[in-house]
This record gives sequence, structure tokens and C-alpha cells, in this order.
Amino acid sequence: MSDNLKSRISNLKSEIEIEGLHKSFREPAGGVLEVLRGISLKLNAGEAAAVVGASGAGKTTLLHVVGGLEAADGGSVKVAGFDVTRSTPSELVRWRGREVGFVFQFHHLLADLSAEENVALPLLVARAGRREALTRSRELLEKVGLGARLKHAAGELSGGEQQRVAVARALVARPRLVLADEPTGNLDPQRGAEVGALLLSLCQEARACALVATHNENLASLCDRRLVLREGRLEGSGMTIDA
Ligand SMILES: Nc1ncnc2c1ncn2[C@@H]1O[C@H](COP(=O)(O)OP(=O)(O)O)[C@@H](O)[C@H]1O
Ligand SMILES: [Mg+2]
Repeated sequence: MSDNLKSRISNLKSEIEIEGLHKSFREPAGGVLEVLRGISLKLNAGEAAAVVGASGAGKTTLLHVVGGLEAADGGSVKVAGFDVTRSTPSELVRWRGREVGFVFQFHHLLADLSAEENVALPLLVARAGRREALTRSRELLEKVGLGARLKHAAGELSGGEQQRVAVARALVARPRLVLADEPTGNLDPQRGAEVGALLLSLCQEARACALVATHNENLASLCDRRLVLREGRLEGSGMTIDA
């Protein structure tokens, strides 16, 4: 590839642009814990990046700041032009509802609601009609292989099934960005591999970007990129363009 073409590609706007992100926490003893010390990362639409790193390295903090759940101390996060780090709390709530899907280690489903109601919730919160929301919900549940479990209460499903419902819920509102925090951390290796592969294939199909914090090297290897969070910095985050 010519240098000219390379520089034109690197000048294109990425879907996610994180620049010089800093986040510290005040320690009870009075010190300051610097968790993120200048994180920069660009991701294109449809790209998935795994974030690996020791427990306590700051993976969850990174996902929270990128998703606007916690404020940054410095730097910027832009998702398709939306400036996460400079938006008001109410703008962030609206943005998250429309454009971000979360998957957590523990599924956070409502145990008494059915699988299809759990998946429909983000749409109902965004004021979609009930029928339309349930139709879309069933479509997603079919995709994650739970077409036969639509009416089951979430609390009656197995751990792997619950996490597949959580994956469907994260994708139901067609988010641009999916933030997954150890999505397979609570599952056995076989179920974990299934859930991880489903999550990534749904993101790819929807052209959503995914940031996946994980200890699971299998899942990391399924992502387009594997980034290591160490001492507050991301290693391997540079834009790579094959020559
Ligand atoms: N709200 C908070 N207040 C103080 N310290 C925090 C807070 N959240 C996280 N931390 C600390 O920041 C560090 C990174 O935490 P975390 O992002 O949860 O790491 P990881 O997800 O990689 O295990 C840890 O040392 C943790 O104790
Ligand atoms: Mg964590």
C-alpha cells in the first residue's frame, strides 16, 4: 500500500476515538489512584477489540468512562461524533439508551420477567410500541438460539441461557457501541465460548463496535484486536494498516 493511501486511511474518521483518557480515584487514606493514564484508541465500525489485563488493571473503569457511566478526569471519548466526555448527564442517558449496549459478567436480568420481556425492555424504555418491541426481541432471541425459551422467566433459565438473553438485550436497540465487561466470566469454558462467539457475530452483523474486557484468551482471539491494559495504558492500541 502506498504511503499516500496509508495516510489518507489514517485520516479517516473512526467510529470510536479515544484520546488521552485519564481517570483517577481518591483513596480513603488520602492518596490518588491513577487508573487510566492516557488511553488512546480508535475503532472502526464493526470492529471488536478485546481489553485484557490483570484484575484491578482498570478494564471496568475504562468501559464505564467510555460508556459515560463515570466521568473522565481528562482526555476525550467520541463515538460517531458524539462527545461522551463533554455531554450532560441527561444527554448521556439518552445516548446510552439509543446507541450503547452493555453486557455484564452477571446478566442483570429481571428474574420475574420473561426472556422476551427482558430483551424488549430497552426498546420499551425508549418508548417503542409493545408489539414492535416484542417482535424485535423475539428476532434477537431466535438469533441467540433461544426461540424455544421466549416465555420462560429469566430466573428459570440456565446461566448460559441467561447470558445469551443479556447478549440479545444489548443488541436489541441496534447500538453503535457494545461494551461487554467479562461477559463470559461467570460461565464454564464451553458456555463461555458459545456466548462470546454469539456476541461477536451479532456485533459484526450489526456493524457495531465492541469493547470486550475479558480474561478469556479464546474470546480475545475472536476479536479483531487484542489490547493489554497495563499500568494505566493500552498496549497494542495503535492503528495497524497492513502494507
Ligand atoms: N469507585 C471507585 N473508587 C475507588 N477506587 C476504585 C473505584 N472503582 C475502581 N477502583 C479501583 O480502580 C482499580 C481498577 O479497578 P477496575 O476498573 O474495576 O479493574 P478491573 O476491571 O481491570 O479488574 C482497582 O484498584 C479498584 O480498586
Ligand atoms: Mg472489572
